[in-house]
Amino acid sequence: SGFWVVVPAAGVGRRMGADRPKQYLPLLGRPLLSLTLRNILGWPGLAGVVVALSDRDSDFSYLSESKDPRVHRVTGGAERADSVLAALDFLAAREAPETPVLVHDAARPCVALEDIEKLLRAEPVALLAQPASDTVKLSRKDESGPSVDRTLDRGSIWLAQTPQRAPLGLLHACLRRALAQGAEVTDEASALEFCGHSPRLVPGRSDNIKVTHPPDIVLAETILRLRYA
Ligand code: CTP
Ligand code: MG
Repeated sequence: SGFWVVVPAAGVGRRMGADRPKQYLPLLGRPLLSLTLRNILGWPGLAGVVVALSDRDSDFSYLSESKDPRVHRVTGGAERADSVLAALDFLAAREAPETPVLVHDAARPCVALEDIEKLLRAEPVALLAQPASDTVKLSRKDESGPSVDRTLDRGSIWLAQTPQRAPLGLLHACLRRALAQGAEVTDEASALEFCGHSPRLVPGRSDNIKVTHPPDIVLAETILRLRYA
């Protein structure tokens, strides 16, 4: 019993532009992936973690969290969805289809336990998300660049975070089908939507940032320092 967590961590961190994939950049003196795993390993009810890594990855085995018997590794793929699928293939061979799975980006070290508990109390198919705070413009491409087509109703715009949750069998089947049919799969919810499901939106904290660009490192350090000070 308990839930599993899948951690896609096989990206190259192009937008970060560092000398190594961003999951190995130091945050508060520890590799980002190490902080994310340490956070996850403290979630009550956790059965195990599957981390998807690049086949060129030579750093993971040096992380102390990689020695935890609950942590398993698989080789990821070219896109985030391929990495998640590799982890689900691994899990489907050993766990029951109804096992709850939470997929959580390696690049989100700041997710708070209160939000994990909210997500675990929600419907079986759900994700953390944040209501948009900026006014949202739909654009169209002109010759000279993008311009506003129209303004969207902000009240119905949510920004998807992770974790995103679904039963193992359902998520595995939907992801496989969506990828096989060439759907645009940028998160787990989009694969579930493709198969006709409507994941529940669970309002998450705004400080569950995805470390993407260089300033996000300092921001994440500040969020973690304030929280655990
Ligand atoms: N990811 C993955 N496999 C890939 C691509 C991404 O497991 N082929 C993971 C990343 O390691 C990250 C998460 O998915 O933890 C979210 O992706 P993103 O923030 O886009 O990370 P990168 O793809 O590494 O960054 P970029 O898009 O800037 O290259
Ligand atoms: Mg990416």
